[in-house]
Amino acid sequence: MVYITRKEHFNAAHQLYNSQWDLAKNELVFGKCANKNFHGHNYDLFVTVKGKPDPDTGFIINVKELSRLIRTEICLVLDHKNLNIDVPELVGKMVSTENLAIFIWEKLHAHIKGCELHCIKLYETENIYVEYFGE
Ligand code: NI
Repeated sequence: MVYITRKEHFNAAHQLYNSQWDLAKNELVFGKCANKNFHGHNYDLFVTVKGKPDPDTGFIINVKELSRLIRTEICLVLDHKNLNIDVPELVGKMVSTENLAIFIWEKLHAHIKGCELHCIKLYETENIYVEYFGE
């Protein structure tokens, strides 16, 4: 099995705020991320697929096609958006990096043909990232 990864990038704003809690608890748990006027992140997205190289091409997947898929299915939906307001599937959800990685997996995996989605790795900052393997 061979793994190949395509990196893409998007910027988005969000707020982490649990409406069942009061402001003090939200600020305690989420810190600056509870800011009512939102804040932004520069997300780096690494999409890894796995498979066996095609005998005719040597490729697991055409990375141009993978890039096109990530851009159309993910970046067009999330880039320069307020994740709490602009993305209908995320409205009312806790838009943590963990939940965003699951969202990206669910949007992408059915579109990957001829190989399998292996991992969504999403950097929220250069020091923090989430990995999701579909389970
Ligand atoms: Ni944040």
